[in-house]
Amino acid sequence: MQGFFARLNMTALTTIKLNMKHPGLFITLEGIDGTGKSTQIRGLIRHLRECGYRVRVTREPGGTPVGERIRSILLATSTGKLAPLAELALMYAARAQHLAEVVRPALARGEIVVSDRYNDASMAYQGYGRRLGKAAVRAFDRIVCGRTQPDLTIILDLDPEHALARAQRRETSRNSRRGRFEAQGLEFHQRVRAGYLAIARSAPGRVKVVRADQPVGEVQTAIRKLVDECLARHKKSVRKRG
Ligand code: TYD
Repeated sequence: MQGFFARLNMTALTTIKLNMKHPGLFITLEGIDGTGKSTQIRGLIRHLRECGYRVRVTREPGGTPVGERIRSILLATSTGKLAPLAELALMYAARAQHLAEVVRPALARGEIVVSDRYNDASMAYQGYGRRLGKAAVRAFDRIVCGRTQPDLTIILDLDPEHALARAQRRETSRNSRRGRFEAQGLEFHQRVRAGYLAIARSAPGRVKVVRADQPVGEVQTAIRKLVDECLARHKKSVRKRG
C-alpha cells in the first residue's frame, strides 16, 4: 500500500512540474525555406550571449541524436513520398525527444532556448502545406507539447518566389542537394506562407512577423528589439511571481 502511495505522489509531482510555467524563456524562429533564418539566428545568439544570458540553440526537426536520424528520413529526397500523416507523426516524434532531452531541461534550468523551428512549422507545413488541417496538428500538439509553448515566435516573412530563388542560390554555393521540402513547388510554399501568416493573426501577442526583404542588418535590429522587449516582460513577471 505504501508503495502505491509513493507511486501516486511521484505521478502527482511530475504532473505539477510539467504544468508549471517554465522559468526559462522559449524563443522560436520560423519562416519558409530561404528567408535567411540561420544568419539571423547566429546574430541573435551573439547578442544574447554578449548580454550575459545562458542560451541553448537548437533546431527542428533534430536537436537530439534520435531527432537527427528522424530528420534525415524527413529531408532526404531518397525517402520519396511520405503519407502526410506519417510526415506529421515523424515531426512530432522528433519533437517529443527534443522536448524531453533538450528543451524542457534547459527551460527548467532558467536558460533561454532558441529553436530554429518548432510546432508552428508543423501547422504551416503539414497543416496548411500538406493540407492536413488544424485539428490533426493540434491533436499531436496537445499530447506532445502540452504547455511547453514558445514565449515568443518570430516569423521571417518573404514571398515564396524570392525565398525559393535564395534557397537555390544557397544550394549552388554550398554544392548541396535540394531537400524534400525545398523540392516542393511554389504553390506548396505559398500555402505554407499563408499558414504562417494565419498563425500570426491568431496569436498576435506571441507571434511577430518580420519582413525578410530588408537588408540583413535591419532584419537583425527588428529581431533583437522584439527579443529584448520579451525579455523585459519575462523578467517583470518572474519578479512578480517571486
Ligand atoms: P531545414 O533545411 O532545416 O530548413 P531551413 O534551413 O530552411 O530551416 O529543413 C527543415 C525542413 O523541415 C523545412 O523545409 C521545414 C520542414 N519542417 C516541417 O515541414 N514541419 C516541421 O514541423 C518542422 C520542424 C520542419
